[in-house]
Amino acid sequence: MEQEAVSKSSKSSPPAVNGGPIPIGDVESDHVERVSTGILEVDRVLGGGMVPNGYFLLGGDPGIGKSTLLLQIAAFVSRTGPVLYITAEESKGQTRIRAGRLGSLPENLYIMAEGNIQHIEESIRAQTWQLVVVDSLQTVFDPDVESAPGSVGQVRGIAARLMRLAKEACPIFLVGHVNKEGSMRPAA
Ligand SMILES: Nc1ncnc2c1ncn2[C@@H]1O[C@H](COP(=O)(O)OP(=O)(O)OP(=O)(O)O)[C@@H](O)[C@H]1O
Ligand SMILES: [Mg+2]
Repeated sequence: MEQEAVSKSSKSSPPAVNGGPIPIGDVESDHVERVSTGILEVDRVLGGGMVPNGYFLLGGDPGIGKSTLLLQIAAFVSRTGPVLYITAEESKGQTRIRAGRLGSLPENLYIMAEGNIQHIEESIRAQTWQLVVVDSLQTVFDPDVESAPGSVGQVRGIAARLMRLAKEACPIFLVGHVNKEGSMRPAA
C-alpha cells in the first residue's frame, strides 16, 4: 500500500468556454445574411428568409401542396446559384411536369429521384448548393438500417443525418408528412 496526497483545492477549475451568464441585452447579435424564398409569407415565417446552414421542416397533410411550394422556392433560389431538389416520392419526369406547370425550368435547378441517404449525402457534398430540398423524410431510407422507410428507427437517423449535412454543407428544406392524428411522428 502506498500513501497518496489528495488535493482539496478547486481554485484551478478551468473557466467556462462561453463565459458565465450575462444579461441578454449585452449579447452581441450574430450577423446573418438571410436568403429570400421568393414567397413573402414563407420569408415571414422564417423570420425574414432562410439563414445559412438552416434546417427547415415543412409539415402538412397529404396533398396540401408541400412539393409544389418547395419546387417554387427551389426555382426562385436557383436564380442565385445551383439548387438540388431530391424527390424520393415521385419520378424526375413527374417533377419536371410540375415545374413546367409552374412556368419555370431554370438551368440551375437540379432534380434527383433518390431515396438512399448514402447517395443523397454524396450528392449534397459533391458541390456547393444554394439550397437542397428533400421530399420527404418518411420515404428516405438508410440501407444499413433494417426497418422500413418511415419507421421510427429510420426517421430518427435520417433527420439527424440531414441536420448534420445542413450544418456542414448548405440549407436544407425537408418535407414531413402529417398523419391522420395530425402528428409527424411515425408509427412505432
Ligand atoms: N397553391 C396551390 N393552389 C392550387 N393548387 C395547388 C397549390 N399547390 C398545390 N396545388 C395542387 O394540389 C395538388 C397537390 O399538390 P402537391 O403534390 O404539391 O402536394 P403535397 O403536399 O406534396 O402532396 P403529397 O402529400 O401527396 O406529397 C397538386 O395537384 C397541385 O397542383
Ligand atoms: Mg409531395
